[in-house]
Amino acid sequence: MDNQLKFCLHLHKIKSETMKNILIVGAGGQIGSELTAHLRSIYGNQNVIAADIRKTDNISDDGPFEQLDVMECAALASLVHKYKVDTIFNLVALLSATGEKNPTLAWRINMGALTNCLEVARWFGCAIFTPSSIGAFGENTPHDDTPQDTIMRPNTIYGVCKVSGELLSDYYHSRFGVDSRSVRFPGIISNVTLPGGGTTDYAVEIFYEAIRKGSFVCPVPENVYMDMMYMPDALNACVKLMEADPSRLVHRNSFNIASMSFTPEILYAAIKKRMPEFTMTYEVDPVKKAIAESWPNKMDDSCARKEWDWAPEWNLDLMVDDMLKVIKEKFDKGLIR
Ligand code: SER
Repeated sequence: MDNQLKFCLHLHKIKSETMKNILIVGAGGQIGSELTAHLRSIYGNQNVIAADIRKTDNISDDGPFEQLDVMECAALASLVHKYKVDTIFNLVALLSATGEKNPTLAWRINMGALTNCLEVARWFGCAIFTPSSIGAFGENTPHDDTPQDTIMRPNTIYGVCKVSGELLSDYYHSRFGVDSRSVRFPGIISNVTLPGGGTTDYAVEIFYEAIRKGSFVCPVPENVYMDMMYMPDALNACVKLMEADPSRLVHRNSFNIASMSFTPEILYAAIKKRMPEFTMTYEVDPVKKAIAESWPNKMDDSCARKEWDWAPEWNLDLMVDDMLKVIKEKFDKGLIR
């Protein structure tokens, strides 16, 4: 470590002890774009720094934005120093279906971002949140009421990165005292930024196609259950876990969290009930089929409930009502086509 960096670390430690300055890496993505706004509404616009490899208008308008390639560790460190960051949200990831197209790239990006964030968190004494996923589980995992601690043998590169990331984050906690925390997110359903390259994306795309065309071609088989979650609950989980009393945390990386579980047919029926003319057909993607079938039907989230009072507020019906309402409004206003 050179002298300049040592000096930065020294200054940082003196000045940042009582501050709540948050850096979101990968802020332009599906979760990042909404987490940035959510955290700014709680902690103040100037205290939440959005960073992404590309500039995105909605996150750069209301508070600090920095263009960052997280693979450059020194650039990440200098941002943490510049803004006296005490908490890093690392949301950089290639998702499951994209990962299968280029596994070496997925490993390099997903693990590269994490190792750099963990190292910088160690140097500067930051807390760090990195999402894990239902994708961390595999075919041999019990599929119903998937326990917190169970067999984890995923057969996607995305899942391999998630399990490795959980282990590495726990290692940084036990070895270096880094305050690393994480949840295993279900498929996240949202109406601001589209997900990309995930197996659970169908549960978002279906709403846009329902409003746009009145029909949807589903790439996932009709009877495969997967855990899903509406974005407001996902955002709440991030805040609640990072604000939790560390002495209550038996687990850290990573907690099962759940709120709803459904198949494409169940989601289709819920939309059709509100839009009787809506139709859905299937063109199953074999890669997505294999991935979806290897993931849990429904996770047991009792540890999260017990250790940091996790309690979701959205169920299938509430989520469907809200998604249809918000996306229809956006179409009516010409915000999306
Ligand atoms: N939404 C992710 C995916 O489908 C899972 O965490 O890849």
